[in-house]
Amino acid sequence: MNAYDSIRMQDLLDPFGYTSTEEIEQADMVIINTCHIREKASEKMYSELGRIKKIKDTRKKQNSNPMVIAVAGCVAQAEGDEIFKRAPYVDIIVGPQSYHTLPELLAKISRKEKHLIELDFVEEAKFDLLPSAVSKQGYSAFVSIQEGCDKFCTFCVVPYTRGAEFSRNMEQVYREVLAAVSGGAKEIYLLGQNVNAYHGKRETGENCSLADLIKYIAKIPKLERIRYITSHPIDMLDDLIELHGSEQKLMPFLHLPVQSGSNKILKAMNRKHTREYYIEIIDRLRAKRPDIVFSSDFIVGFPSETDEDFADTLDLVKRINYGQCYSFKYSPRPGTPAAVKEQVPENIKNDRLSILQQELGKQQFEFNMSCIGKNMEVLFTSEGKLNNQIVGKTPYMQSVHILNPSKDLLGSILNVKITKASMSSLSGELV
Ligand code: 5AD
Ligand code: SF4
Repeated sequence: MNAYDSIRMQDLLDPFGYTSTEEIEQADMVIINTCHIREKASEKMYSELGRIKKIKDTRKKQNSNPMVIAVAGCVAQAEGDEIFKRAPYVDIIVGPQSYHTLPELLAKISRKEKHLIELDFVEEAKFDLLPSAVSKQGYSAFVSIQEGCDKFCTFCVVPYTRGAEFSRNMEQVYREVLAAVSGGAKEIYLLGQNVNAYHGKRETGENCSLADLIKYIAKIPKLERIRYITSHPIDMLDDLIELHGSEQKLMPFLHLPVQSGSNKILKAMNRKHTREYYIEIIDRLRAKRPDIVFSSDFIVGFPSETDEDFADTLDLVKRINYGQCYSFKYSPRPGTPAAVKEQVPENIKNDRLSILQQELGKQQFEFNMSCIGKNMEVLFTSEGKLNNQIVGKTPYMQSVHILNPSKDLLGSILNVKITKASMSSLSGELV
């Protein structure tokens, strides 16, 4: 979502003559777009700001254009004008729902106004005011369709920093997808903090579900792959599960975070579902699309998690068998209910994380190894690190490298015979 927002900020500033640069010393403006999901984000931000301040000072000494520094994203939202107190050389603070005001804020800065802050939650206005042109994102593009969250998991800051759940209307999304596809995208990632809770309006005023939206954009002929991220188990409704069995453009890979395998911890997390319900959803998806591969997020060391609760998580992991996963130590976030509970000691969190990651790594490696010898369809999206290497993705989100393609294959979906596998990627040869 932050990557998408950063692209949109560029789109917004483009008409005012701003282009992006790889050389920070040359930048007339620097925007730090921040994430607040786990701790250390704000400390990292302040140390980065310190580094940028030195460059700002050097430019001043050289009498170059003054550098404007903006802090955007969820740390900006959460810390507000505290940031000006600790880093007075910051010019602009702008939240994730109000970055459409950046041009206006920049105009004020050029009129010598100081310390501008914009943290309103007006999602609809933001999307209405963003330029309709989306800068070229390449062969695989992000389109944000839903923002915010009303679920209030007790560990999570998102409902506070991104605000209440909001869905963009269907036509607006369709136009953005169409623009991305006209710009060359073969694959679209529909984004949202709670993407499967999507309920945008149709032109007729009726509500449209995520499944309806996917069916609608799937009609775009040059669009070949559709993915959506991130989903909540309780919003995996029948029409969406059905669609995994019928819509070929919908990729057979789903990120469906469970966080814990213990019903006691799921309750304490306010996840609103049990482990049994989660397993049922997975089983129903597998019944519709037998080759579907799953990924998940896990949190270990949530307050009150015992060895038995953690054993339940490991047991669930073994029961599901994932393709790839993200796992984190619980990190208390100020203002969230779980932060004030008695905390699990750090050494226990470390031990549990390493046991869990070992199991998840084993599953990922075994899945990748099971692909050796198979032909897989790969969408090639970028150059590789090695000379003459290109990289793409299988339908199951694995990275695939091939060497020495005879011509420019970026943007093509081709059959690749997998010859080698490691934990993190596959390699192969064109069939
Ligand atoms: N501590 C650790 N992990 C967290 N996540 C969200 N909040 C926290 C937290 N306080 C993880 C969840 C979520 C992912 C995006 O980040 O697993 O799904
Ligand atoms: Fe955070 Fe996701 Fe829970 Fe919403 S559903 S509160 S975004 S973890």
